Amino acid sequence: MSTIYIHWPYCLSKCYYCDFNSIACKSNIDYLEYCQLYKNVLNKFIKQFYNNEVITSIYLGGGTPSLVEPIFIDNLLNFIYKEFEISEAIEITIEANPKTIDKYKAKEFKLSGINRISIGVQSIIDEDLRILGRIHNSYDAIKCVYDMSDVFNNISIDMIYNRPGQKIDDWLIELNKVFKLPIQHISMYELIIENNTYIKYLIDNGFIKSPNPNSDFMEKTIQVAKNNGFEMYEISNYVKNDTKLYSRHNLSYWNYDRYYGVGAGAHSRVSDGNNIYAIEQICNINDWMLWAKNPIFNLELLTQDDIYKEQLLMGLRTKFGVDINKLNKNMINKYKLFDKIKVLKHNSYVIDNDSYVILTYSGMLKFNMIVDYLT
Ligand SMILES: C[S@@+](CC[C@H](N)C(=O)[O-])C[C@H]1O[C@@H](n2cnc3c(N)ncnc32)[C@H](O)[C@@H]1O
Ligand code: SF4
Repeated sequence: MSTIYIHWPYCLSKCYYCDFNSIACKSNIDYLEYCQLYKNVLNKFIKQFYNNEVITSIYLGGGTPSLVEPIFIDNLLNFIYKEFEISEAIEITIEANPKTIDKYKAKEFKLSGINRISIGVQSIIDEDLRILGRIHNSYDAIKCVYDMSDVFNNISIDMIYNRPGQKIDDWLIELNKVFKLPIQHISMYELIIENNTYIKYLIDNGFIKSPNPNSDFMEKTIQVAKNNGFEMYEISNYVKNDTKLYSRHNLSYWNYDRYYGVGAGAHSRVSDGNNIYAIEQICNINDWMLWAKNPIFNLELLTQDDIYKEQLLMGLRTKFGVDINKLNKNMINKYKLFDKIKVLKHNSYVIDNDSYVILTYSGMLKFNMIVDYLT
């Protein structure tokens, strides 16, 4: 089982907090050329690593892939359907910014096989959307979610909390409204103030307040989610209980499956026999476009230590935990996993289970500390 990630690096404008590999660009994009470049890189993966394993998910992320004309997405997806073994139950997600999609475009995406949409809502408070530098307001975001619910029955939204000056009670009121939207899934991220972002400049120069460094947003968010019929199944992800529409794409990352990433700055984990390699493609968009004409991968062979650490780092994020049988026995001994689990159990950070290491909610609240301790 593997998945495919396609990175579209353009947005209508750059949000103030964002340091993703994306740039604002409104015109002069040669979609046809891009399609060919993506196909070149996918062909290289097929020749060098692909072993006819089933593809369970395709994720069109960015940037803002909902900006791309549907005919080009259709062309690229048809290439993938033709060249790879595709699971009958494949999940195909597109990320969308509320200002860049309407029902008509969404229906075209659906005709190409896209069956899940992830909408960057971030907030439904106009003032906060302005602070974040989003190009939409609350009305646009809510309308977009309702419009998409006429087309898709698997909708996820992204929200950001602990915004500058945000009070926890206001967040909980906002959340109670958000959970009533026609959605099946929410990703909620605590705002990170990244270097070289406009929001950092605004904070450093006193134009807006810094986020609260010791916030207990996550703990309260878990509770409000529960009251609204949503379950936290991963540190940043919540699913509506009666749908159980987990993000299969993300589950494959957390499960440490292989993935083929394509696009500027995209990451991959690929296998060749017993070896696992990490690949990071060139971040600069123009350089990537040149490279992708005739791609040659820069492979980083992962050591047993790297793999063990990544498996714990990814798996511990979810309520499903890490399968101990999939971990290398030498590494288990080297890092004294069983002794450490005993200590964590004693502190109620780990659930009592012989086959899996699973964090309790209080363990998840101390995630970074626990991962440091285990690795
Ligand atoms: C690639 S973007 C998703 C889709 C689309 N580009 C959009 O923003 O509408 C992934 C998500 O990461 C989150 N994110 C990006 N930068 C962040 C930051 N500095 N702190 C917290 N969350 C962030 C946002 O919620 C964003 O929607
Ligand atoms: S739309 Fe998404 S990727 Fe683009 S700048 Fe905003 S957060 Fe970043």
